[in-house]
Amino acid sequence: MSDFVNVPPSPASLIQSLRDIGYSIQTAIADIIDNSITANSTKIDIKFSWNFGNSWLAIIDDGEGMTHDELINAMRFGSKNSLENRAENDLGRFGLGLKTASFSQCRHLTVLSKKNKLVSCCAWDLDLIARNNDSSWMLSVLNEVAIKQNVVLNELFLKFLSDKNNGTIVFWEDIDRMYEEGLVKDKEKLFNALIDDTREHLQLVFHRFLSPEIGSKKVSILMNGDNLIAFNPFNPQNLATQELEQQQIIINGNKIVAQPYILPHHNKVSSEEYEKYAGEGGYLQNQGFYIYRNKRLIIKGTWFRLIKKAELNKLIRIRVDIPNTLDHLWKIDVRKSHASPPEIVKEGLLQVIEKIEVAGRKVYKQRGTKLASKVTNPVWHRKAIAGEIIYEINRDHPLILDLLNKVSKDQKDYLQQIITMVENSFPVDLFYSDFADSPEQIKSPSFDENGLKLLLDMFIETWDPGGTLKNQLSKKLLTVDPFSSNMELTQNLLKHKGYKINE
Ligand SMILES: Nc1ncnc2c1ncn2[C@@H]1O[C@H](COP(=O)(O)OP(=O)(O)OP(=O)(O)O)[C@@H](O)[C@H]1O
Ligand SMILES: [Mg+2]
Repeated sequence: MSDFVNVPPSPASLIQSLRDIGYSIQTAIADIIDNSITANSTKIDIKFSWNFGNSWLAIIDDGEGMTHDELINAMRFGSKNSLENRAENDLGRFGLGLKTASFSQCRHLTVLSKKNKLVSCCAWDLDLIARNNDSSWMLSVLNEVAIKQNVVLNELFLKFLSDKNNGTIVFWEDIDRMYEEGLVKDKEKLFNALIDDTREHLQLVFHRFLSPEIGSKKVSILMNGDNLIAFNPFNPQNLATQELEQQQIIINGNKIVAQPYILPHHNKVSSEEYEKYAGEGGYLQNQGFYIYRNKRLIIKGTWFRLIKKAELNKLIRIRVDIPNTLDHLWKIDVRKSHASPPEIVKEGLLQVIEKIEVAGRKVYKQRGTKLASKVTNPVWHRKAIAGEIIYEINRDHPLILDLLNKVSKDQKDYLQQIITMVENSFPVDLFYSDFADSPEQIKSPSFDENGLKLLLDMFIETWDPGGTLKNQLSKKLLTVDPFSSNMELTQNLLKHKGYKINE
């Protein structure tokens, strides 16, 4: 029979390692807010102070709060098993976030909670744990006197919780990770800049709580007294935003809902509005799926490698709602900022993309078929060679050939170079971007009557110098551009010349 030895983890080294699992200040605060929202808070206050380098940060909610025993369990690393079923609106999963998010930023975490008017308070201190030689996990439990000795905590308690029955304060002191090396005044600037970034992050991640859909409850979040304003990345308020048909993917009876949007093109909104919704990295970067777990944004702007990010799709954003019952399939991480869809979901998401692309491609195809129909002498040739598509001017076009034959050898070379120059300098990127935004607005410059008449005269002279093919001319012109693309004008010119038009 084998023996067993008890090998508890060393608290000091384990916590030290957990500090590095990759939280930023933004994702860390968001993880604490998750807990407040799960506890049915309606108002969450984030208070912070640079305090001459002794900065502190507190997240205070008016949620259900915790009893003494519940708080002690909440402070435990792994307070709940990730396999345990959670309530439908629970934003948690691992029983770790409160601790890992806090220690990613600070060395001293105090949680004060009030439930049914009873106050409980506990604290973890990294320095105390580091000094602890045995492997015990000794948590400080603070009584009323100890709470009062912490001036800032006590002030926060008096201001926010003393007259309430329930609520929780998560209090970070000894913040050492937000800014590491550097001069004090640079650190203060960085502290403020990070706070600004955090504001933007929270306005996006929690926008569906800050500005809820009908039937959902509103949660106010304030940073040092300023209300956060929801930032909805789909800009649904704007009438120019297209809300496409919703699609559903059902996995083991669980519903995933995909709502595609096409954001407005920049000429349909003010430039400020266009910029506002571009997001960090611009529209190209921010296209793709936006995954919401219980209405909280966890990942944004990705196609999960199903397709590449393309200029043509840059205004497409698809809101995807997933329930927490599918967590095990999505491989959600502790920070709630990474998840990857299982194969079966990927298949569904690919279909969502295909449906949207088909709608987009329709416009393109219609134009393509029209161009390609009967014209055997186009002005431009489309060539697909070794995976590349090139557009070239058709040097065998009867009018171009005629001109090349009429000029001297030197002029011919010069003319050839001019044609090559026009081809090479075609503004492909600009065209592509305009086409992606609004294909219907792209037009070729139109011919005036005199210009087309000149070309028509030249064509007749080259194609039918003896005047014997008169009867076939109008049919022939259907195959030659620019006459084919400007048929109405061409036929008027022919009538003026006394030609009989055979349709
Ligand atoms: N503000 C709060 N109000 C009430 N209860 C809370 C609050 N914060 C934490 N808790 C309790 O503490 C527990 C532990 O929180 P923690 O964030 O560590 O884990 P979790 O939310 O369960 O899962 P995850 O690791 O995914 O965040 C929660 O499950 C909840 O019961
Ligand atoms: Mg949590």
